Amino acid sequence: MEKRTWLDASLPLKKRVALLMDAMTLDEKIAQMVQISYSVVTSEEADKWASTGAGSFLHVLGNNSRRLQRLATENRLGIPVIFGIDAIHGHAIHNGATVFPSQLALACSWNTNLAEKMGEVTAREVAAEGLHWTFSPVFCLGRDLRWGRVNETFGEDAFLSGKMGTAVIRGYQGDDPSHPERIIACAKHYIAYGESTGGRDSYETPIGMRTVRDIFLPPFAEAARAGCLTFMAGYQTIDRVPCSAHKKLLREILKDELGFTGFVVTDWSNVTSLIKRQKITDNFEDASRIAIEAGNDMIMTSPEFYEATRSLAKKGKIDLTLIDDSVARILRVKFIAGLFDVPEKIKTLSLEKDPTAEESNRVFNCEAHQAVNYETAVQSMVLLKNDEVKGTPALPIRGKDDKDVHSVLPQGSPRTVNTVAVIGPNSDSVRAQFGDWTFFTHPVPHLDAIPELHVTTMLEGIREVASQQGVKVLWDKGCDIFDPAKESIARACSIASKADAVFVCLGDTLIQTGEGHDRADLALSGAQDALTDALAVVCKKKKIPLIAILVNGKPLEFERVVNNADAVLETFNSGTLGGRAAADILFGKVAPQGRLPISFPRKTGQLPVYYNQVPGWHDGSYFDCEATPLFAFGEGLSYTWFSYENIQLSQKTASKTDTIQVSVTVTNTGACASTETVQLYVTDCYSSITTTVRELKGFTKVYLEAGKSKKVTIDLAVESLAIINEEEQAVVENGEFNIQIGHDSRPESLLATILTVK
Ligand code: NOJ
Repeated sequence: MEKRTWLDASLPLKKRVALLMDAMTLDEKIAQMVQISYSVVTSEEADKWASTGAGSFLHVLGNNSRRLQRLATENRLGIPVIFGIDAIHGHAIHNGATVFPSQLALACSWNTNLAEKMGEVTAREVAAEGLHWTFSPVFCLGRDLRWGRVNETFGEDAFLSGKMGTAVIRGYQGDDPSHPERIIACAKHYIAYGESTGGRDSYETPIGMRTVRDIFLPPFAEAARAGCLTFMAGYQTIDRVPCSAHKKLLREILKDELGFTGFVVTDWSNVTSLIKRQKITDNFEDASRIAIEAGNDMIMTSPEFYEATRSLAKKGKIDLTLIDDSVARILRVKFIAGLFDVPEKIKTLSLEKDPTAEESNRVFNCEAHQAVNYETAVQSMVLLKNDEVKGTPALPIRGKDDKDVHSVLPQGSPRTVNTVAVIGPNSDSVRAQFGDWTFFTHPVPHLDAIPELHVTTMLEGIREVASQQGVKVLWDKGCDIFDPAKESIARACSIASKADAVFVCLGDTLIQTGEGHDRADLALSGAQDALTDALAVVCKKKKIPLIAILVNGKPLEFERVVNNADAVLETFNSGTLGGRAAADILFGKVAPQGRLPISFPRKTGQLPVYYNQVPGWHDGSYFDCEATPLFAFGEGLSYTWFSYENIQLSQKTASKTDTIQVSVTVTNTGACASTETVQLYVTDCYSSITTTVRELKGFTKVYLEAGKSKKVTIDLAVESLAIINEEEQAVVENGEFNIQIGHDSRPESLLATILTVK
């Protein structure tokens, strides 16, 4: 047997990789580049691939991973498999593990510490299952809301996305990814995948390199700098070149220019797609060669790649140094992940006894993880409207038996209720609340799966809190997400008429969101608008508040609901504890503090509505739709108010290498404590190319008791004000920049001053 010199952990990493590479045959190397999707092969085929030395499998759970790992490590060189999984918002494909709010919901928290904790918890649960690698986070931007995967993004803004995403990466990988409770992250989908025409998934993205570098590259560059060990190439074409064939983007920009030393995995069947969908060749040999030359290292779900590449090599039609480079990258990551050294990472136990299941059950959704999940859900919810009804804000409400003294309750007389009605198709829907990428949807849809963990839906959350406060809860679904529902609306109205406050839970459901589920029309489906119209009539007559709770993957056309409702709480896909978190906000136990990471349209035809538009549109709006979005990026209310005064720059003139400090005094002018998210934007007043109307350049969160003020300072690196010139270089131009700070991206919410760059 080969002497496994590479197992000597005292040797430098490079040396260990080289020793192993020296021992490998060409076939063994090519096999390392293959990733097999467990859901599309039989278990016999999977076993064969493990014995052939396939470098990776995805979507394997439980004992199956242990069986495959045993086969792999029994191979000639014993190279372990790296198991990948889509733990997108928690390890949610495993029924029983923590289901966090979606990435879009998490972004509403604008809280990078929380994002890191979410990553840590997910890593612990994924690692407990013997898996090593999650295909997360997503750095695509949600700029066309018709796109089915907006729920997976951190919203529309590259800066926020970069900060949240790198925090999640820190949570997954930690300082040492070989730690038994850490996993490898994957920055995806490189690049501009969400920007395809018409919001069509996996389609043509007609943008040039300037836009790629200016808008889409920065968060990925930040991920590479943060040490993210893998990247996934997108499905789509960019200016007609498939991402996985894009040598400039993958090899030249990502690997050479940004110095990324990890490995690139293709997305699902990308090599096959070069033939079948994108049609740039008609055979696997060409497709495999194109993918290797472009810079892909691991090939997901195109097993034909293996034979095709062996044949290319035999015919001398592939540069073998490229294969060596890919394999070295993969092995390097395997070493860094501890796969050769850390026994906990290699679960190859016999099939009869399954001690790791026991172990994992102690980890999955344990109390400590629930605490992080609850905090994430609370901080992810955004109060979008809170008007007065009979002289008192619609929210919060409290029951007559509420004896707690909550620091977040506005003083005076919060609304006291005896009975509330909970209505709507998403009031008691676990599936709508979970959103995409859970055991309901992946690796194959099991819509009827029974959750093996306790979930508080909106109804249950409200029931829990209401019961502590002596409040009676009435419930009616009102309508289904799709049906016309005339009779049930009448029934719901009759229930509403018996209440002191009415909650209506609206939004979308699983098949209206996610991969392959793009929408041409973002209007609320079924009778949801009609239901809200009817409830509004009842509530207005009785002078009781109608409170809309939005349970949805992404922004929809909510204008009619917003006009009808007195208060609106956006919860997106809030996970296992979403109902409890929402109820605690509604009943004033905690203050809402979420801010939108994405703008809401009034109408689908108004898209795109993201805040950082390019100026110059004649008249600036459609003839038949207002110019402004329904809700803008950064917006979100609390149960108090914040004022901003005295914007100051540490220097009014700066050089291109300076970092300046922008400060402002923020005061909590209301009657209860809360957290404000202070946002810093910059507009380049005049530049050699047209720049966007403003760009987020910084943010920070500040907790303030009622009546208290604080000076808040945010750093601004002048370097970050660069434009991309014709040579695709980032350059800061001399001139004036309008520095703005305030509550959200709307000009009326921002204080401004001028910085001159010389
Ligand atoms: C396709 C998706 O685009 C990607 O996000 C995911 O990670 C892979 N499939 C693996 O499931």
